[in-house]
Amino acid sequence: MRIEILPSLLAADFGHLADDILRAEASGAEALHLDIMDAHFVPNLSFGPDVVKLASKVAPDFYRNVHLMMTNPEKYLEAFKNAGAQTIQIHVEASCDIHAELKRIREMGLKNALAINPETPVEALYPYLDEVDEVLVMTVHPGYGGQKFIAECLSKVTEVRKRKPDLDIMVDGGVNGETAIEANKAGANQFVAGSYLFKQTDMKAAVDDMRRNTHV
Ligand code: DX5
Ligand code: ZN
Repeated sequence: MRIEILPSLLAADFGHLADDILRAEASGAEALHLDIMDAHFVPNLSFGPDVVKLASKVAPDFYRNVHLMMTNPEKYLEAFKNAGAQTIQIHVEASCDIHAELKRIREMGLKNALAINPETPVEALYPYLDEVDEVLVMTVHPGYGGQKFIAECLSKVTEVRKRKPDLDIMVDGGVNGETAIEANKAGANQFVAGSYLFKQTDMKAAVDDMRRNTHV
């Protein structure tokens, strides 16, 4: 387990996506977070496998963490794998056989992760904790970047950390220099940040600060 910082490409300038992927890589962040929205699981659309493929091409060594906010992620696992996804995150609220799809992601040679929305009780994760490489605790209602951090979600981080001292636990939504510290105190070791990191003139300085202020 280590501290990982993941800029979310959702907050990039879509007119200069390739440049912004390189900017995120040059910040020293561990991985790129790619948000896939299907306009059904969440009330918004973002982008699909082609953007994951672009990231694979532009920055082949920059790890790709793909967050599927989709009702039926099982239909798209192959497409995202072929596009270069390295971790695939599905939601515990998705309409699929969660045990089966977590297994399938691993069988594809990728890391899997299970994400949980703010309104879903932490107990929903318990049946899967021995089958996941990572848990993603949403700290906003998914669908949009730039929302306010919901601190109440952090009790879920603490509960999972108690049960799984060595599991990667990620927070996503409203993460900035301050809320990352709060999330880290609760037990998180991976931090997705979209608008906060992309608005920086010096992204590397913000990533360095976040890393300096958090610990495993
Ligand atoms: C929310 C997405 C997040 C989003 C975070 O639906 O899953 O990854 O990009 O954006 P910020 O950091 O701006 O809240
Ligand atoms: Zn996300």
